Amino acid sequence: MADSSLMNYKTPVIVFTSVLLLVILYLSPYNNHNFIINNDLVSSNITSSTNSFTQNQNPQDNGTLSVSSTSTSVNTHIREKLTSSAERIEDDLARARAAIREAAQTRNYTSNKVEDFIPRGPTYRNPYAFHQSYIEMEKTFKIWSYKEGELPLVHNGPHSYLYSIEGHFIDEMDSEKNPFAAQSMDEAHAFFLPFSVTNMVSALYKPPSGAREPYIHVVTDYVGVVSKKYRYWNRSTGGDHFMASCHDWAAAVTSETPNNLFKNVIRVLCNANSSETFQPKRDVSLPEISLVTRTLVTSTQSRGSGSNHSILGFFAGGAHGPIRKMLIEHWKDKDDALQVHEYLPKGTDYGELMAKTKFCLCPSGYEVASPRVVEAIHASCVPVIISDHYVLPFSDVLDWSQFSVQIPMEKIPELKSILLAISDDKFLKLQKRVRQVQRHFTVNRPAKRFDVIHMILHSVWLRRLNFHLPA
Ligand SMILES: *[C@@H]1O[C@H](CO)[C@@H](O)[C@H](O)[C@H]1NC(C)=O
Ligand SMILES: *[C@@H]1O[C@H](CO)[C@@H](O)[C@H](O)[C@H]1NC(C)=O
Ligand SMILES: *[C@@H]1O[C@H](CO)[C@@H](O)[C@H](O)[C@H]1NC(C)=O
Ligand SMILES: *[C@@H]1O[C@H](CO)[C@@H](O)[C@H](O)[C@H]1NC(C)=O
Ligand SMILES: *[C@@H]1O[C@H](CO)[C@@H](O)[C@H](O)[C@H]1NC(C)=O
Ligand SMILES: *[C@@H]1O[C@H](CO)[C@@H](O)[C@H](O)[C@H]1NC(C)=O
Repeated sequence: MADSSLMNYKTPVIVFTSVLLLVILYLSPYNNHNFIINNDLVSSNITSSTNSFTQNQNPQDNGTLSVSSTSTSVNTHIREKLTSSAERIEDDLARARAAIREAAQTRNYTSNKVEDFIPRGPTYRNPYAFHQSYIEMEKTFKIWSYKEGELPLVHNGPHSYLYSIEGHFIDEMDSEKNPFAAQSMDEAHAFFLPFSVTNMVSALYKPPSGAREPYIHVVTDYVGVVSKKYRYWNRSTGGDHFMASCHDWAAAVTSETPNNLFKNVIRVLCNANSSETFQPKRDVSLPEISLVTRTLVTSTQSRGSGSNHSILGFFAGGAHGPIRKMLIEHWKDKDDALQVHEYLPKGTDYGELMAKTKFCLCPSGYEVASPRVVEAIHASCVPVIISDHYVLPFSDVLDWSQFSVQIPMEKIPELKSILLAISDDKFLKLQKRVRQVQRHFTVNRPAKRFDVIHMILHSVWLRRLNFHLPA
């Protein structure tokens, strides 16, 4: 749907693992120590001891942390002296960074409560850093969701079908029961702009024009209102603000605003095409989850998976976009083991077929994201990602190579031999880890620890940790 011709950046490779080579420059307000962390806190190798848990795929990222001081823990005495809210907030974040570094170094965690889930194993790029980062988020992170704006464009969103994650996420952020809700704006580390691009398109779309001006106008207006009324937008020029949308057009709508208004905003988007405006270091890849109407489950989630995985590979869907077109041209109705259909055969059930399949094909369509990725995960089917420039959700935390197969478009003709070459042993390992990540792709209302909503928030938290408020 989206017109991508406006943006013509070229990144040559598929971005499966967005190693965030982030530079955090922390200038402490009271001791002037510089902390330079030259790679992402959570995805890095960090310790170089013999550890089968961490895997580093980016050859440039040697995983070392260069930190010029370790004394970030501030005693309460100094803390009491911090007067401005911006200082207090930066102090919170500095302590969180220090705790994450320490956990990565000691390969353990510190928590003031009993941990009911401990992420471990090769599924996580750095399980210790991730776990501690998550603990710190729960302890510290406070979000202000702006109250301005009216239904249906603000404070609401779609709750079923393709874009449903948008509505559920907005609800959770707006909810009084949100454990991350700030009591006051001064206390907030991040600010949420609760508008729904999907609802804007539903309410304002006038066929046959696909013009985006009406939506650009609404989001620009919204920022205008909150930046006039409160000082927080101006304080960070939007850098501690975030928005979320699963609509294909949300990336363009927010990047085509006058004066590039959203240039610092953390954009949480399903349309995570790094070859367009999506920037993995600043933006967050939002999983596309097609929920069955009025439920919180996907079409595969309720099936349960029998152990009879008699189909090697499976895909059913339209020939949208060049990747699917190629897939269908090569494989449509040609092979019993590798089942590729444009339309589901009569009398068959999509969810059941996925649950019977070893490898579920998830090619990009008109846009990079596909609801099939999450459907496959819930069917305990190993996702086969066929995509270019797709930044996979949570790839700063999860090592997708441990629970999915990634195949570049050019290899579509060799698809069957590639899948056949994966041993049963390897398949069972991949599948075990698919089951392990199911919780991270599950929608709960209210949200639960480590579920999809809180994983999205954790992605926002990581990016917030890498942003420093101007003094
Ligand atoms: C990351 O750590 C592992 C385990 O210690 C090691 O084998 C690997 O070489 C490291 N990767 C890099 C890029 O340093
Ligand atoms: C890792 O990279 C940093 C900066 O890129 C460099 O200073 C350091 O010497 C490297 N360490 C190793 C062990 O290669
Ligand atoms: C890791 O930390 C937990 C909680 O602080 C503690 O109970 C446990 O003994 C530690 N494990 C190791 C190996 O140090
Ligand atoms: C923020 O900056 C804009 C543009 O400079 C200005 O119009 C607005 O009044 C400022 N907001 C506040 C709360 O001062
Ligand atoms: C698995 O399913 C296939 C096709 O539905 C069937 O032919 C086969 O007998 C089943 N095998 C087992 C072990 O249930
Ligand atoms: C991603 O962006 C590039 C550059 O605009 C475009 O060529 C490609 O088709 C996009 N991918 C998808 C699946 O839309």
